[in-house]
Amino acid sequence: MENKIKWGIISTGHISNKFANALKMLPNAELLAVASRTKGKASEFAKKYDIPRAYASYAELANDPDIDVVYIGTPHTFHLENSAMCMRKGKAVLCEKALTINAEEAKEMVRIAREENVFLMEAMIPRHIPLLKKVLKWIKEGRIGEVRMLKASRCAHGIFPKGARQLNPELGGGSLLDVGVYVISFASMIFNKPPVEVAGLSHIGDLGSDEQGVAILKYDQGEIADLSFALRTNAVDEAYILGTEGYIKIDDLFAVPTKITLVINQKEVDIIEEPIIGNALNYEAEEVMRCLKEGLKESPFMPLDESIQIMEIMDQIRKPWGLKYSNDKKQNN
Ligand SMILES: NC(=O)c1ccc[n+]([C@@H]2O[C@H](COP(=O)([O-])OP(=O)(O)OC[C@H]3O[C@@H](n4cnc5c(N)ncnc54)[C@H](OP(=O)(O)O)[C@@H]3O)[C@@H](O)[C@H]2O)c1
Repeated sequence: MENKIKWGIISTGHISNKFANALKMLPNAELLAVASRTKGKASEFAKKYDIPRAYASYAELANDPDIDVVYIGTPHTFHLENSAMCMRKGKAVLCEKALTINAEEAKEMVRIAREENVFLMEAMIPRHIPLLKKVLKWIKEGRIGEVRMLKASRCAHGIFPKGARQLNPELGGGSLLDVGVYVISFASMIFNKPPVEVAGLSHIGDLGSDEQGVAILKYDQGEIADLSFALRTNAVDEAYILGTEGYIKIDDLFAVPTKITLVINQKEVDIIEEPIIGNALNYEAEEVMRCLKEGLKESPFMPLDESIQIMEIMDQIRKPWGLKYSNDKKQNN
C-alpha cells in the first residue's frame, strides 16, 4: 500500500470515467480523490469507483497533501488553469490532450512545471501503445527504407448538441484541437522534427468551430504528412507510413491499434496483431507512474518541448482560418 502512487482526478466527464476505470486495473495505483465543480457529481463519481475522498471544488483536491499526481479531464480552455493550480501545490500532472489551446499557454504550463520541479505530461495515448513502439522499431531498422510520406486521419462522427464541448469554441472545441492533435502528434512522433511548411483548410460550421479540416506538413528533406480530422464525418481510422522500399499500414490507429502490416513490393511481408489490454488509458497512467518512480520530470515518449511544438503547429494551421478560442490572448490576433 505504501508504495502505491496516489491519484486524484479533476472533473467527472466522459474521459475521467474512462481514466478511473483504467486506474482501477493497475495494482500500483490508488485512486484517492475526485473533484467536481459540484458536490453531487463528485460524490456520485466517488461512489461509482469506490474513491475515498470527493471534493466539491478542484482547489480542494489540489490542496490535499496526500495526492501525488492529478489527472486533468476538463475542456481544453481550462487545462492551463487547472494544471497550474495543482503544480503550484507540488503535484505531478497528467493533462488531457490538447495540452492547452495555444503555444503561448503550453509554454506557460511547461514553465510552471520546470519552476516547481514537478512531473508534467500531455495525455496522448498512441505514444504509449506497445504496438506503435514496434512501428518505430520497423522504421529504425530501415524496413521501409527512407520515410517519405505519411497519411493519417482521425475522424469522429458524433452528433453533438449545441453547447457540447466538442464543437463549442468557448471551450476550445473543434476538430483541430479535439482530434487533429492526434494526427499532428503522430506525424511529430514519426518524423521526430518540426515541419518547415504548414498548410491547412477547414470548414467552420454553424456553431463557430472547425467541424473538419486537413493539414499538410512538409519537412526539411521534402517529407510530407497528409492529415485529416473531423468531428461529424465517418472515416476509416487508419494510417500509412510510406517509405522508399515499402510502407506500414496501421489499422484503427486512434481507436485502439491492434494490427500493423509491413508491405514491400505490394506484398504483405510481416503482420503483427496484438490486443490492447484495458481501455488503453492504462498505458499512459503506467508511464506516469514509471516516471514518478524513476524521478523523471517528463516522459521521453511525450516530451514537453514536443507538446509545445505541436501546439505551435496547430496555431500556424488555424491562423489563416481566423479561428480563435475564448482564451487566445496575444497570439493569432
Ligand atoms: N484521451 C482520449 O481518448 C480522450 C477522449 C475524449 C476526450 N479527451 C479529452 O478530455 C478532455 C475532456 O473531454 P470529455 O469528452 O471528457 O469532456 P466532458 O465529458 O464534457 O467532460 C468535461 C468535464 O470538465 C468539467 N468542466 C469544467 N469546467 C467546465 C465547463 N465550463 N463546461 C463543461 N465542463 C466543464 C466537467 O466536470 P465537473 O462538472 O465534474 O467539474 C465536465 O464533466 C478534453 O481535453 C478532451 O480533448 C480525451
